[in-house]
Amino acid sequence: MLKVYVRSLRAGEPGVNGEGGDKSRLVRDIFTSIAGRYDFMNTVMTGGLDRYWRRRAVQAARIRPGDRVADICCGTGQLALAARAATGRGGEVVGLDFSPAMLDVAAENIREAGRRAESISNIRLLCGDARELPFAAAEFDAVLIGWGLRNVQERERAVREMRRIVKPGGRVVSLDMGHPRLPGLSALYWPLFARLVPFLGRRCAGEKAREYYYLYESAREFPPQWELADMFRRCGLTHTGALDLAGGVVAVVYGEKSPLYPGE
Ligand SMILES: C[S@@+](CC[C@H](N)C(=O)[O-])C[C@H]1O[C@@H](n2cnc3c(N)ncnc32)[C@H](O)[C@@H]1O
Repeated sequence: MLKVYVRSLRAGEPGVNGEGGDKSRLVRDIFTSIAGRYDFMNTVMTGGLDRYWRRRAVQAARIRPGDRVADICCGTGQLALAARAATGRGGEVVGLDFSPAMLDVAAENIREAGRRAESISNIRLLCGDARELPFAAAEFDAVLIGWGLRNVQERERAVREMRRIVKPGGRVVSLDMGHPRLPGLSALYWPLFARLVPFLGRRCAGEKAREYYYLYESAREFPPQWELADMFRRCGLTHTGALDLAGGVVAVVYGEKSPLYPGE
């Protein structure tokens, strides 16, 4: 079953990780179809660790109270909510995604978080494309992207866009699947991932299970965190680095826009 789906992804134009074909359409269709189950499946597949990982990404972005933060590929808004916890009421978080279905869930999650605690009026959601951000240069104190870059067609273009909209001295931070560095862990991890994630998808998400093969494929082909940090450097960010979480299964990659940045 895994092989069939992988082949079907490769047979059409869009590749899971390639720059060619209309990967964007494939990705939007996948997330539109799983939007309603996305948060639940994240919790199941990560054992609830995704919340902790998001907090680590927010810490890496060095967000302070009152900051303006962009969350690109915000999906269901969980990273935007984690960022909002750091900016407080005085800041603003703008979440952007190109799937209206994911944004609908984000709006509900924000309403729900507001019902549980103080009402939240400073998270704004926008429908847009990571490759052409509808923001002015240097608008944000920090720019985040959570499990997003792996899904974006023309990744370097998206990173350059994120660098453009962050203020000099601010950080661009990606939280995404990584590659475990320990040879033993790596040898176990990928075969387990290939079987476990689609199995959980099948058990928990029924007919949408095949979408979870995409998760394995895209993670397998996503550049390792150290290469992503190099890519951040190529895109004009400085002080880049990668922080391994869960032995490198997940990684936070960060880079800074130089305070001496000459402008666009
Ligand atoms: C795995 S979800 C991540 C959601 C969220 N950031 C989180 O922390 O759980 C990836 C999201 O990226 C969005 N996406 C992929 N390519 C995009 C693009 N080019 N522009 C905007 N959103 C995009 C998808 O619609 C999807 O909601």
